[in-house]
Amino acid sequence: MSRKIAVLVGSLRQGSFTRAIAQTIIEESAGQLEARFVEIGDLPLYNPDLDTDTPPPQWTRFRSEMAEVEAVLFATPEYNRSFPASLKNALDVGSRPYGHSIWNGKPAAIVSVSPGAIGAFGANHHLRQALVFLNMPLLQQPEAYIGKAAEVVDENGKVHSPDTRAFLKTFADTFSRWIALTSPK
Ligand code: FNR
Repeated sequence: MSRKIAVLVGSLRQGSFTRAIAQTIIEESAGQLEARFVEIGDLPLYNPDLDTDTPPPQWTRFRSEMAEVEAVLFATPEYNRSFPASLKNALDVGSRPYGHSIWNGKPAAIVSVSPGAIGAFGANHHLRQALVFLNMPLLQQPEAYIGKAAEVVDENGKVHSPDTRAFLKTFADTFSRWIALTSPK
């Protein structure tokens, strides 16, 4: 059975390694994960004063796209040993109005990506902390820290390393089973 998921990418740049890795996870899922890449770069910074009956249209678009999916894959780079502000803002926007969080109960998984050696471990675990509070059942294993990203992604954004592709396939398969196990739908 195909699972409808959102993919949120914490990098806004063209040519993002993180986006390339997320795309490869979806490819390697062989149809098990039907992904919608939900964009977060245009969301105004969360401000409760704006969260009225007529909130910014970008927030409304984001919340309604997220309402349609069963689970979420977070793909994050590391900025200063944490995850980027764009992703934190998306979490904040989706968590409100109080009592109407779009995250609550949705299965999730995190993949963190860096050209450095430690695979954005800091970003991965800071994000994990927020998702615990948001009550998202989080895939525990395999943990996905993709280091040396420039060596596994080519100039066309394709992951050419067979080992990395094999790992991403295992990750996609396990996440699909995790959704089946934990989804309230
Ligand atoms: C970085 N980068 C970075 N890398 C890392 O491994 N740990 C870190 O703490 C940081 N900090 C950091 C801060 C800021 C503001 C920027 C712009 C970058 C480097 C980062 O991993 C690199 O730019 C990646 O290419 C970003 O991922 P995408 O955009 O390729 O997906």
